[in-house]
Amino acid sequence: MITRRNWLLRCSIFANVIVLLYICSHVMIGNNNSNNISGSNAFFIQPSSNQQSTQRSQAQLYQEEQELASILHNKELELQKHLKMQEMQNSENTKIKESDNVKLSEQLPDEESRFEIPTDQSSLQQQQKSDVLFTDTNGNNNNNNSELFSTQSNDLETKLKNILNCHTKDYEPYVEQRGDFWVLKNYIRAEHGELKCYETITYTTHADFTFLDNLIPLLERWNAPVSIALHAPGSDFLPTINSIKYLRDCLPESNLVRQFVTFHIYFSSKHVPKVVPKYDKVLFPSFNCSLNPPFFNATSAQLYKTQKKLLYPVNVGRNIARDAAMTHFILASDIELYPNPGLVRKFLEMIARKGDSWENNNPRVFPLSIFEVDSTVAVPRDKTELQELLRTNKAIPFHKRVCASCHGVPKSKEWMAANETEDLGVFHVGKRTGFFVHWEPIFVGTNVDPHYDERLSWEGKSDKMTQGYALCVLDYDFHILDNAFLVHKPGIKVLKKDPKRAVLAAKTNQLIKKIIYPELQVLYGTRKGCAV
Ligand SMILES: *[C@@H]1O[C@H](CO)[C@@H](O)[C@H](O)[C@H]1NC(C)=O
Ligand SMILES: *[C@@H]1O[C@H](CO)[C@@H](O)[C@H](O)[C@H]1NC(C)=O
Ligand SMILES: *[C@@H]1O[C@H](CO)[C@@H](O)[C@H](O)[C@H]1NC(C)=O
Ligand SMILES: *[C@@H]1O[C@H](CO)[C@@H](O)[C@H](O)[C@H]1NC(C)=O
Repeated sequence: MITRRNWLLRCSIFANVIVLLYICSHVMIGNNNSNNISGSNAFFIQPSSNQQSTQRSQAQLYQEEQELASILHNKELELQKHLKMQEMQNSENTKIKESDNVKLSEQLPDEESRFEIPTDQSSLQQQQKSDVLFTDTNGNNNNNNSELFSTQSNDLETKLKNILNCHTKDYEPYVEQRGDFWVLKNYIRAEHGELKCYETITYTTHADFTFLDNLIPLLERWNAPVSIALHAPGSDFLPTINSIKYLRDCLPESNLVRQFVTFHIYFSSKHVPKVVPKYDKVLFPSFNCSLNPPFFNATSAQLYKTQKKLLYPVNVGRNIARDAAMTHFILASDIELYPNPGLVRKFLEMIARKGDSWENNNPRVFPLSIFEVDSTVAVPRDKTELQELLRTNKAIPFHKRVCASCHGVPKSKEWMAANETEDLGVFHVGKRTGFFVHWEPIFVGTNVDPHYDERLSWEGKSDKMTQGYALCVLDYDFHILDNAFLVHKPGIKVLKKDPKRAVLAAKTNQLIKKIIYPELQVLYGTRKGCAV
């Protein structure tokens, strides 16, 4: 079976080469009668007015060749991947019935085949079968309550696919080491299956189980994939798993958790839990839903982590969650920060609208304005509601009373004064210099952006400063979004004296100044106006 598929797929690669050569020869000769080509090969993207023009410029010819070559290259990579997956499927998953395969492949939307290079029918079918089998063994593609899989999105997706030119990542559970930590990557996976990297945005975050009460309110607003790294050393492991089971099974909103959230677990190699089930056993037996979840009224005092006086390795978690995200765009955030609903869709529409018409080639990220609201009010759903709360002092800019300069956003007064508009756009392009030299922005970015320094802990503070420095030196532009914002879980923070944390913070500052900062200067260089 494997060798037959192998053979078919190789044949199809060969056929692709032939098709490419055929098309190239047409292009070279300048044959404009390309109706039959674009008719049968929808991947051959070309404005139809061009078909009438008599001569193409050399540049166009060259560009088209390049496009074709890159399509073919991607295609080959995809085919190789399919081969690998089929082998895995065959060895692991022989139970899936042939009749199911056929049913699933019939449900394939047109979009799936739009970019296929036509080959002989049989190999194409083989390929589609494995696509579906692999991405969606649960047949879960019919959720209409999500930012994914919407029929209207086909046009948008095509544009984004071309603009972002990103690569789809794998989605396998994997045990890996990261410095002193063991990581159970993709330990409990969302049921969305493999994602196309351009179709949505991943909210990446970190927590211990006592913060998991934030997950539902977050999902109700975000309604898109979440990649979360949970710190679960020693006996924190079991309540962590039970919390996940509870969230996935026991709530009216559990379908959101199952659909969207992928959980990774990590712990220090000095604090390995007594028992760690394999990823395919971990959800059994299920949680007794008439019991309270472990995070109910939980405090950090009862954590194993606290009793053993461990620090919270915030940046290890942040980096794990980021690296596991399957989408091009990520929003690396803290779990208590809830975005306004509709952000994913509007952001992607903005990216598609902009295309490559940005004013310069500087690297860019898209910071969100952040607010705190009074514990007595509901989290605002749009900017207009937010402004009403700001007027009545029920909302304030984030950490205004704790560390104003860490979260001060350029042009924030103007931002708060400006009325909400229909689409999402860029309000102001700022830099992390001058008054904002210590800004710790939270933004929609990509995995190309510098990571967080894993030597820094939450208790030691300044945990995002070194990333901020790297962004500044690399000359990032901060495209502050106009109608997008984050709101902290209700309850306005006041400055509390914590002498132990102050000692740690002082040590951290020394670590940054004496050790990390010189390293960053070597690795990223220096730039006038940038500081950690
Ligand atoms: C689709 O959405 C409608 C209204 O929001 C809802 O009633 C229906 O159950 C949903 N269908 C599915 C398959 O989720
Ligand atoms: C679940 O918990 C409830 C309340 O403690 C208990 O009465 C019930 O027997 C439990 N069910 C199972 C299946 O253990
Ligand atoms: C949980 O916390 C709430 C408010 O903090 C309190 O009213 C309630 O009694 C607590 N419940 C338990 C079982 O401790
Ligand atoms: C903002 O909206 C308010 C209420 O809708 C309106 O009165 C005001 O003129 C608007 N301001 C601007 C600058 O458009």
